[in-house]
Amino acid sequence: MENKRNVQVSQEQIDEQKRILQNIAQINAQKGKQPKAFLVTYGCQQNNNDTERIRGMLFDAGYSFTENKADADFILYNTCAVRENAEMRVFGNLGALKILKRKKPALIIAVCGCMMQQEHIAKQIRQKYKHVDIIFGTHALYKFPSMLQAALDTNRTLMVSDVENSDGCIAEDLPIKREDGIKAWVSIMYGCNNFCSYCIVPYVRGRERSRKSDDIIKEITALTKAGYKEITLLGQNVNSYGKDLDSGIDFADLLRMVNDIEGIHRIRFMTSHPKDLSDKLIDAMASCKHVCPHLHLPIQSGSNDILKRMNRKYTREEYLQKIEKAKRSIPGLAVTTDIIVGFPNETDADFEDTLNVLKQVEYDTIFSFIYSKRNGTPAATMPDPITDEQKHERFARMIEVQNEISLKLNSAMVGSVQEVLVEGKSKTNPNILTGRTDTNKIVNFEGDAALEGTFVNVLITEAKTWSLNGEIVK
Ligand code: 5AD
Ligand code: SF4
Repeated sequence: MENKRNVQVSQEQIDEQKRILQNIAQINAQKGKQPKAFLVTYGCQQNNNDTERIRGMLFDAGYSFTENKADADFILYNTCAVRENAEMRVFGNLGALKILKRKKPALIIAVCGCMMQQEHIAKQIRQKYKHVDIIFGTHALYKFPSMLQAALDTNRTLMVSDVENSDGCIAEDLPIKREDGIKAWVSIMYGCNNFCSYCIVPYVRGRERSRKSDDIIKEITALTKAGYKEITLLGQNVNSYGKDLDSGIDFADLLRMVNDIEGIHRIRFMTSHPKDLSDKLIDAMASCKHVCPHLHLPIQSGSNDILKRMNRKYTREEYLQKIEKAKRSIPGLAVTTDIIVGFPNETDADFEDTLNVLKQVEYDTIFSFIYSKRNGTPAATMPDPITDEQKHERFARMIEVQNEISLKLNSAMVGSVQEVLVEGKSKTNPNILTGRTDTNKIVNFEGDAALEGTFVNVLITEAKTWSLNGEIVK
């Protein structure tokens, strides 16, 4: 089974990177010190997963981790380019590090991720943020050990930068240190070929490339053996998994293979593109016992005119048909979506179309965003007479409509018994445990902390807009 385009980083290259980590670890051990790393991630689960790889590499190089920036010998920002506000926060944070670096010249500051994959931003950082030591884009992640070594060797007098412009690669067998011990996110493919007109992702994450199914199954089998209870298969558009491989295995087939792994518990996946959501996949979801009854299917807008200008390649009617089929085939299915408000020249009528879809589908939750202009994308040049105020008003109205729907759906669950995967103590009250149903709803209930990582049955006693309260039942 091979990728049609040769995208796999060779084992020799990976081994070379691992040797560098060992060298750094040895030097740290000889000096008798364990340097500390402080890592910050912006954006999506893919970015979190990349940070987990970097954590793994740092761990192998002898680093420990700290929550306190001032204690750190190494600081990393893994950045997101999807919306402007995440970018502004990175610039703000980097600016603030200047003082820390002056006090502690040995500190290494690294910036990576989607923002860095844009040459004009990397250039801006190189010119205006000279206290940064390492810059690398998404395609260079596997070369992080060489960059760390170079920064250490040059005594941080040289800025190390790798933002090569390519279609991307696949690097297997990199170290990984996951943050969570119960839920694991596993990338099954990288990149995106869809070029939705508002979206920067295809420019910063390269072309779609799928991992070989053997590698994916091996990773998930090991996670299951290690006690993980929930696996989320990750990709910008998991429905097109395998199209670039010679294997003949598509996403529905992969889902069945994962479902057959011995000892596996819950399986989720993110994100699906409506145009590629096949009947075959819906059938696989319906018949795989471990696949959770939850479909995240971003619609982005309910207006056909906007969908066309977004280059989404489906109509509202086609989308609704697929949702209907999925709901019919999968009992108790929870449906969630992403929506962009204020796309260039979105009229009141377009916006009403979106509200109507919300009311028709009755999503369990929506993830809504105000349109953010991304230079280099086709939408950035579209005329946009809509004011920010109008956009914010629409956004607030949409949340109001959705909150009512979420509360209604949650209220209908009162009196039912749900299987909940216990994630741990509630952040706001240590006497309360928190977990999620298979439909991904948050449930809070009293219980012993020793239940963390187990499945319990919970009688739902109260519904809120964003969560449920309940009591453990035997
Ligand atoms: N502005 C606002 N939201 C965006 N998204 C992607 N690009 C933009 C943008 N330019 C949203 C989409 C996508 C989610 C991950 O982020 O809704 O599904
Ligand atoms: Fe962006 Fe569209 Fe690709 Fe999603 S499918 S990552 S919105 S281009």
